[in-house]
Amino acid sequence: MAINATNDRMSEGFADHRDETRTQVQRLEDVFAALDRPAERREAPILDALEAERSTLESVIEDDDLLDMAYMNAGMMTERIEMTAYEGLTSMAGQLDYDDEVRKPLESNYDEEQSAYRELSAMETASDMKSLWDRLTLS
Ligand SMILES: [Fe+2]
Repeated sequence: MAINATNDRMSEGFADHRDETRTQVQRLEDVFAALDRPAERREAPILDALEAERSTLESVIEDDDLLDMAYMNAGMMTERIEMTAYEGLTSMAGQLDYDDEVRKPLESNYDEEQSAYRELSAMETASDMKSLWDRLTLS
């Protein structure tokens, strides 16, 4: 997700998670290798739709704080989808009695998605969004 958040904490969080995602891809490639299956790149229409929505919002929202809120929500939606995918894969790996070589990387990826989600979620109520809430509640 290419974003231009003005909130430094959010911007750094997205950059950190982008680095984590590269590690997650390597873990998934290791899982495919452990299963002796080729890792193939696939389209992800649901994530493409979120990216399109983010792009649309970016083009119509002019307020920086409101745009940060849109980025935060887009990021949380993405992390929720990723968490759900890893929950399903981890469950399948358990049901199929795959060993740790398969299960642990999936669990590690899930943990990082959950951490990214929680970090974004914490910003909603933290001082990060205070200026937006203050302006919206002025009457
Ligand atoms: Fe993620």
